[in-house]
Amino acid sequence: DKGTYPYYMLKEIDEQPNVMRKLSSEYLNEDGTPVVQDELLDAMKQSDRLYIIAAGTSYHAGLVGKELFEKLSEVPTEVHVSSEFAYNMPLLSKNPFFIFLSQSGETADSREVLVNLNRLNYKSLTITNVANSTLSRESNYTLLLHAGPEISVASTKAYTAQITVEAILAKALGESEGIAKAKDFNLKQQLGFVATGMQSIVDEKETINEISKKYFADANRAFYIGRGIDYFVSLESSLKLKEISYILAEGFASGELKHGTIALIEEDTPVVGIITQSNTAGLTRSNLEETMARGAKAITIATESLSKENDDIVVPDVDELLTPLLSVIPAQLLAYYTSLNKGLDVDHPRNLAKSVTVQ
Ligand code: F6R
Repeated sequence: DKGTYPYYMLKEIDEQPNVMRKLSSEYLNEDGTPVVQDELLDAMKQSDRLYIIAAGTSYHAGLVGKELFEKLSEVPTEVHVSSEFAYNMPLLSKNPFFIFLSQSGETADSREVLVNLNRLNYKSLTITNVANSTLSRESNYTLLLHAGPEISVASTKAYTAQITVEAILAKALGESEGIAKAKDFNLKQQLGFVATGMQSIVDEKETINEISKKYFADANRAFYIGRGIDYFVSLESSLKLKEISYILAEGFASGELKHGTIALIEEDTPVVGIITQSNTAGLTRSNLEETMARGAKAITIATESLSKENDDIVVPDVDELLTPLLSVIPAQLLAYYTSLNKGLDVDHPRNLAKSVTVQ
């Protein structure tokens, strides 16, 4: 039931602070130690490489997961689109371990991969929002997202829940390997900051509605740019806008624009810059300036410590590995309001189904 909300999507965006708190209490002890079954950690410890398999928004959460597993567990990690992996399997490492990310647990493209891997006797984990879903039943291990039912076709809270579960698992694996960075990573405290930070963004949602009206109402194309983790959030942000507002939107590694795509910048094309990483903030800002010199309207989403006076949206600081949990919220809201203000059916975009059961 969506209660007083006009659309499930807005309700689900607003639920994210609570999902963070729920995951913290489900998966972290009072003292912050991760609660993950030993058998799963042992299977992962035997592996020399993790392969994350997913589609769409879940794939974008997987890209962030790669950062988490490589930084906190020091295990090489690859991320693959399931529909590609199924028919073009890359050369695997000696002891691969597979992680399926799927809100529904029913995506046919991902299941195709799992069926193939089971035939080859590889071990896998499914991270899903739906207990007893097909992927969950057919893989060796399951971790639940505890996000509550996600009804809107456009995925929001499942994305942030997936990143959070990946962070918990990466910390658990890193700690069990004795990696200092994993031990020192105070995830319990950080998830508290994330929940409070998310709340402050959703409380200020009207600001984002204004930005949507000002820059996106007449736009026929838009770009999201960033580097590293911010690039991954750019991909997710552009997918959100595309699927519910039908504006042609692309996410780009900000350094790549000048290698071709910058030709598409016209007078008033909105370009959203995501700036949450201290090592690349200056570079992304100068890439934004290059687009402005060609007529673009730059809109910035920056973390507080990296913010400048004229930034449009400033989100609170959290550990730089977790900034996607905050930077994606304004992008979700931007997509929501742009769709709403165009009078579209936000929860049921054309041509799309909630769970994609065909290949
Ligand atoms: C986008 C969206 C889709 C799904 C994709 C995978 O908002 O919802 O891109 O993320 O179809 O679905 P799951 O996660 O159920 O496997």
